Amino acid sequence: MLATTALALLACTGGVAAQWTSPPVFPSPNITGAGGWEDALEKARTFLKQLSTDEKTGIVTGTPGPCVGNIAPIARLNFSGLCLQDGPLAIRQAVYASVFSAGLSAAASWDRSLTHERGALMAAEFKGKGSHIALGPVVGPLGRSPFGGRNWEGFSPDSYLSGALVEETVLGMQSVGVQACTKHYIGNEQEIQRNPESVDGVTVEAISSNIDDKTMHETYLWPFANAVKAGSASIMCSYNRINGSYGCQNSKTLNGLLKTELGFQGYVMSDWGATHSGVDAITSGLDMNMPGGIDFTESEHSYFGANITTSINNGSIPEERLDDMILRVMTPYFYLKQDQGYPGVDKTTNGLGFFPAANYKYNFQLTALVDVRDDHAKSIRELGAAGTVLLKNTNNALPLKQPKNIGVFGNDAADLTQGLYTGVSVQHPGLENGNYDIGTLPVGGGSGTGRFTYVVPPLDAIKAKGDSYGALVQYITDNYAITNGALRSIAPSPPDVCIVFLKSWASEGDDRETLIAEFNSTSVVTSVAQLCPNTVVVLHGASPNVLPWKDNANITAILAAHMPGQETGNAIADILWGNINPSGKLPYTIADQESDYAKNLVNSTELQNSKDPNAWQANFTEGNLIDYKEFDAENKSVAYEFGFGLSYTTFELSDIKVSLSAQNASRTPSSSAKILPGGNVDLWAILANVTATVKNTGGVLGATVPQLYLSLPASESGEGTPLRSLRGFDKISLGAGETATVNFPLMRRDLSFWDTGAQTWRLPSGVIGVDIGFSSRDLKLKGSITV
Ligand SMILES: *[C@@H]1O[C@H](CO)[C@@H](O)[C@H](O)[C@H]1NC(C)=O
Ligand SMILES: *[C@@H]1O[C@H](CO)[C@@H](O)[C@H](O)[C@H]1NC(C)=O
Ligand SMILES: *[C@@H]1O[C@H](CO)[C@@H](O)[C@H](O)[C@H]1NC(C)=O
Ligand SMILES: *[C@@H]1O[C@H](CO)[C@@H](O)[C@H](O)[C@H]1NC(C)=O
Ligand SMILES: *[C@@H]1O[C@H](CO)[C@@H](O)[C@H](O)[C@H]1NC(C)=O
Ligand SMILES: *[C@@H]1O[C@H](CO)[C@@H](O)[C@H](O)[C@H]1NC(C)=O
Ligand SMILES: *[C@@H]1O[C@H](CO)[C@@H](O)[C@H](O)[C@H]1NC(C)=O
Ligand SMILES: *[C@@H]1O[C@H](CO)[C@@H](O)[C@H](O)[C@H]1NC(C)=O
Ligand SMILES: *[C@@H]1O[C@H](CO)[C@@H](O)[C@H](O)[C@H]1NC(C)=O
Ligand SMILES: *[C@@H]1O[C@H](CO)[C@@H](O)[C@H](O)[C@H]1NC(C)=O
Ligand SMILES: *[C@@H]1O[C@H](CO)[C@@H](O)[C@H](O)[C@H]1NC(C)=O
Ligand SMILES: *[C@@H]1O[C@H](CO)[C@@H](O)[C@H](O)[C@H]1NC(C)=O
Repeated sequence: MLATTALALLACTGGVAAQWTSPPVFPSPNITGAGGWEDALEKARTFLKQLSTDEKTGIVTGTPGPCVGNIAPIARLNFSGLCLQDGPLAIRQAVYASVFSAGLSAAASWDRSLTHERGALMAAEFKGKGSHIALGPVVGPLGRSPFGGRNWEGFSPDSYLSGALVEETVLGMQSVGVQACTKHYIGNEQEIQRNPESVDGVTVEAISSNIDDKTMHETYLWPFANAVKAGSASIMCSYNRINGSYGCQNSKTLNGLLKTELGFQGYVMSDWGATHSGVDAITSGLDMNMPGGIDFTESEHSYFGANITTSINNGSIPEERLDDMILRVMTPYFYLKQDQGYPGVDKTTNGLGFFPAANYKYNFQLTALVDVRDDHAKSIRELGAAGTVLLKNTNNALPLKQPKNIGVFGNDAADLTQGLYTGVSVQHPGLENGNYDIGTLPVGGGSGTGRFTYVVPPLDAIKAKGDSYGALVQYITDNYAITNGALRSIAPSPPDVCIVFLKSWASEGDDRETLIAEFNSTSVVTSVAQLCPNTVVVLHGASPNVLPWKDNANITAILAAHMPGQETGNAIADILWGNINPSGKLPYTIADQESDYAKNLVNSTELQNSKDPNAWQANFTEGNLIDYKEFDAENKSVAYEFGFGLSYTTFELSDIKVSLSAQNASRTPSSSAKILPGGNVDLWAILANVTATVKNTGGVLGATVPQLYLSLPASESGEGTPLRSLRGFDKISLGAGETATVNFPLMRRDLSFWDTGAQTWRLPSGVIGVDIGFSSRDLKLKGSITV
């Protein structure tokens, strides 16, 4: 239904059906150091002058070493090389390191300052272990499909929310001197067929994300612009194709959108094995090939390395291009002062990586084991609670009032039972990674996971709470037992409260098959609710999930607890007992049922068996209308809308005021304005402020998130314009009865639409609707802006 409408609309605006080719954009722009990197660029130039030919290609080609990615040291120049490590929520494989909350939890907190702190603390651990570059944060996938296997690594399908949080994360990470690598650029919205596959000897190419120019700017490129503005040292190009051309050799996305339009000054690094050519990739804008070799574990055979020298000699790559690649790699290194006493790579890293030590070609200097966890657990616990969303709370079931008899049920309540690291496959039929039955799910799998030193399971945290006042805690963590009669063992029965823990796995490499929590969750919940008229359900793991039992009257409270990391149990206990008032808001939509979502996932048995090299095509015909924008466009009811979340107190909004910086601003950013990282500087100028008053009208301290949505006039911005788009939010903590003013600064970009014909952002001349509320559908105040 939606797809048909959107197709018709696109055809209507564009006049012709999309052709899905990627226009050539050459040559690759040079780094200029614009935006504060000028001095560092000079240091990089001095460094470059001293390099031999082999050393030059070594700076841009990965080599086997102790880290997940390695750039060779040059002892002669006192250059220790570069150590690149996964990932977006922890220094993945390292020992004695913390596992933080996933991006999904940060998104659900809607808290810029906690997100910034998460970035800084995480990066401090990378630095402590001698890693120069952290392979995160993630804003691709953005979350086009609710089934996307890696959505949880990033933030939200809303580009504005993702943009705000990626900006804070990059700033936080780089504030401690670690290079951020914002990934995966771009259109990496599904895992299935993300890479080419061989079918009976025929190479079937990776999926092509076919994205029109308007959707590219208004949705998928948007958060990358924030990351570039924040100074992200590197951007990782993705496995998929865009309009038929691979992410790491697409000159339109790399030379054009990223390096020209957004003024990106850092380097583009390939995802692992995403390089499919030498000359084409380099001229199209790829600056660093990871992990280096065509075969993952070596670098003898590389599209880069010695092939770059050959390509320069035979005239297919100008030497200036190689020089620019090196300057782009080295400038952030000098800018972040990584040349000035950076910690060495922890020796335990050796042997954790995927390179056999026998393949090392360089002598990497390793230092002693270091425990980098510091007191980070405190902040992890805080963000874990802040990223928990209270969806239902009948008769103030929560917070708990010191119940004497507590039941804890479900496989997600228990401690891990198959090891502290899911990065190693479990050799057991039917089991893969962390998707096994009994054991809590604090974060997802794949390269975005982390190695735990400990996990506080929900059951342990609840036992500790119960013990503190002499409560009885009864529990069953085997879902099969729960649904097959073991509830009869509970006595006295029913408990005062029954807390059910469910989980949903997701991992890099595959997409989700269902949006219902796994391991017979529906039966587990209904079995417990049958026994217990005060049942609280907690969901951990990937989101969104649909909740078929949500209206069951015995289910008094529901919490979407996401992926809180190592302090998961403490974080949920803080919420359950009211030590922390829930303030998380959904960064996505929960539909009534799975089939209400546009699936936006390309997959079928026929495709899986196809030998057509171009069989896999994902036409993004829904345009900007993903997640709540889709549901709003169709006026479709939802279970819990984007932006929704309850509190143990109540809030009120009043008194909306709009102030404009200037009447009659020019319709487009000045074409003579500077292009700094993030793009034309005019786009980031504040043209208006909207303010409102928020009051805590309840009895306890709490935080809320007033949200501002804009409605651009579709008559100007075109068909497919979202009914409302988030363009402001702020997390405000208030004591009982307290009042504050919330300010939503609106930049030119926030008020503009992308004018494809003119290739620029344009302010509409008509009226822009303004709504302020506590969710995308709980809109309290109305106003308008005419710029
Ligand atoms: C994708 O778009 C192309 C060009 O408009 C069209 O030929 C093709 O049929 C579309 N594919 C799907 C699966 O809709
Ligand atoms: C992809 O094709 C669409 C339709 O022709 C076009 O609007 C868009 O700019 C192209 N994008 C890229 C990255 O080539
Ligand atoms: C990049 O700079 C070099 C000089 O270092 C120059 O020869 C080349 O033309 C420049 N390339 C571009 C695209 O500006
Ligand atoms: C050069 O690239 C080709 C693939 O195009 C590869 O087979 C070969 O091993 C490379 N040579 C070197 C020295 O890496
Ligand atoms: C130049 O060398 C590169 C790397 O070996 C090769 O891929 C390319 O085809 C060569 N081009 C010419 C014109 O010989
Ligand atoms: C080499 O680098 C270290 C910091 O990593 C610095 O302390 C030292 O002074 C440098 N030596 C030279 C000769 O530049
Ligand atoms: C799922 O729950 C049903 C009860 O609704 C039970 O009969 C069945 O054994 C359970 N299956 C598993 C695999 O736990
Ligand atoms: C709710 O709990 C009561 C027991 O207190 C039980 O009799 C009733 O069947 C339960 N309702 C549902 C829908 O499970
Ligand atoms: C993709 O399709 C294959 C073949 O039909 C199926 O086995 C698999 O479960 C599908 N994957 C997802 C995530 O839907
Ligand atoms: C949206 O649906 C509601 C009922 O669910 C209806 O009252 C309202 O008029 C609809 N709005 C539009 C614009 O169709
Ligand atoms: C908007 O608010 C900012 C502070 O956030 C202030 O610096 C600026 O002057 C205000 N601009 C207008 C137009 O009110
Ligand atoms: C707005 O500005 C344009 C040119 O920038 C000018 O032509 C027009 O008269 C102005 N309108 C008002 C109401 O000032």
